[in-house]
Amino acid sequence: MTNTYEIIDHEFDVVVVGAGGAGLRAGFGCAEAGLKTAFLSKVFPTRSHTVAAQGGISAALGNMGEDDWRFHFYDTIKGSDWLGDQDAIEYMCKEAIPAIIELEHYGVPFSRTAEGKIYQRAFGGMTTHYGQGTAQRTCAAADRTGHAILHTLYTQALKHRAEFFIEYFALDLIMGDEGECLGVMAWNLDDGTIHRFRAHQTILATGGYGRTFFSCTSAHTCTGDGNAMVLRAGLPLQDMEFIQFHPTGIYGAGCLITEGVRGEGGYLTNSEGERFMERYAPSAKDLASRDVVSRSMTIEIREGRGVGEHKDHIHLHLEHLDADIIHERLPGIAESARIFAGVDVTREPIPVLPTVHYNMGGIPTNFMTEVLAPTRKDPNRAVPGLMAIGEAACVSVHGANRLGSNSLLDLVVFGRAAAKRCAEIIQPGSPHKPMRGDDGSRAIARLDHYRHASGSTPTAQLRGKMQRIMQNHAPVFRTGDVLTEGVKLIDEAYQAKSDLGIADRSMVFNTDLVETLELDNLLSQAVVAMHAAANREESRGAHAREDFPERDDKNWMKHTLIWCDEQGKTEIGYRPVTLTTLTDEVEPVPPKARVY
Ligand code: FUM
Repeated sequence: MTNTYEIIDHEFDVVVVGAGGAGLRAGFGCAEAGLKTAFLSKVFPTRSHTVAAQGGISAALGNMGEDDWRFHFYDTIKGSDWLGDQDAIEYMCKEAIPAIIELEHYGVPFSRTAEGKIYQRAFGGMTTHYGQGTAQRTCAAADRTGHAILHTLYTQALKHRAEFFIEYFALDLIMGDEGECLGVMAWNLDDGTIHRFRAHQTILATGGYGRTFFSCTSAHTCTGDGNAMVLRAGLPLQDMEFIQFHPTGIYGAGCLITEGVRGEGGYLTNSEGERFMERYAPSAKDLASRDVVSRSMTIEIREGRGVGEHKDHIHLHLEHLDADIIHERLPGIAESARIFAGVDVTREPIPVLPTVHYNMGGIPTNFMTEVLAPTRKDPNRAVPGLMAIGEAACVSVHGANRLGSNSLLDLVVFGRAAAKRCAEIIQPGSPHKPMRGDDGSRAIARLDHYRHASGSTPTAQLRGKMQRIMQNHAPVFRTGDVLTEGVKLIDEAYQAKSDLGIADRSMVFNTDLVETLELDNLLSQAVVAMHAAANREESRGAHAREDFPERDDKNWMKHTLIWCDEQGKTEIGYRPVTLTTLTDEVEPVPPKARVY
């Protein structure tokens, strides 16, 4: 059975898919530059996952002591375990400073120092003088920085009269017959209508794929829809094996407890009451980078020094902090700890466990945010008409491990870069190219396929299965055997989507169809993440192989590219890491041992 769909057409200069921090920053910048700009968002913009970002946004403002963007550049490269592209990292760390001052002028209500400057706290891996001192570089609005930024950017987008298509679910890119992107197809969740958006540039700002895992800090909506659209367009994703575990998710609930807690003086202990990070990272201790802290916690638990009845988690202390500091700078986490762990943080430690938090991998782009479709001959070939930003993109500024507070920065700096690039290359109101190639029918066929899915597997059941496979087979520490089994199981889960069935056809408003489309998106990303992890035989950043415990620069200092066809068949290729800088204002950082 198939339905007949009427298509409602729209034409814009720029269409931004996703209205979180990156999307809003890009889109309002385009609108401000006189480009006719639309946002498509499957949730109301201020409910995008950026709202959940807590601890802050990095920039070497030097408000709390000496700092320099070159120190930030060095820390980010070291944090990335030398998989980050140094040209893009230079761009991000230098542009951080004007980008944050702009945010302040747009009205972000940052916390303040006594002199009225933006308050900055310490975060993991952020140092001065190339690892010698501790930098206070993370600009904070208490522990609700994402909320403050997202609301401010939304008001800027309204001010510049960008158009919002809210609760529109993006189905697929419209790709022309010369490999260019012509726009995007979307489904209006409110009334079921189908919309075709033509655009000179389509900007994917669709976030990460945290929900491939069972326990994560990501919202239910973090299903990496843009990444999956890119795979379906026959384009590769990059470095998908690098999945960050945040050290302090609340035990059992997975909700985030910001690294800002440790930045304000909080610390971790094991069942012996020992501040064990002093053994693993004698210099940075609890403020080592996230991969290092998550691995140390996992070792403590494995060696029998976990806390609680099952000795399966760790304690995070902030009871010793002044109640005024908690009240002023960490009010949100005090509330989360009370609600989700039943803990009064002024009296007892919070039970925590490393929890999936961020995807370093995603859609490959250059630092101007143009999506790359690398070939052997040309690893930097760009796809006309397509950009990606935020967690959906892999620029790559985070490499194998992102430093805390570089994510909000990435959103703002590259959102702004996308707007600048659009303003440079698009003539406002210029005519659209004729549609040759796909006209959106592919997207409609996929929607129709799932609308009539009549198999015996409920969507929630297959999603649960996929999430447990990812949780058990792509964890903090990985081995070849576990990953090989993970590949087999996730491939089977992918094939099982042919037996999906939409739960209850009698329902007028059936969210199962949306969740089924999201699950389809998640499955292809789970497949490429697991295959890429099994393929990389070294340890680097968040990818820790017990059978290959060392970083292997000779064979593996390269980006993984991975394609996945509709049958779930993957293909792997590589791109070189950029080890040169954009300007001579900073020296490239050659690879060396990474100790904290
Ligand atoms: O810990 C946090 O506040 C998270 C920040 C980040 O992921 O950048």
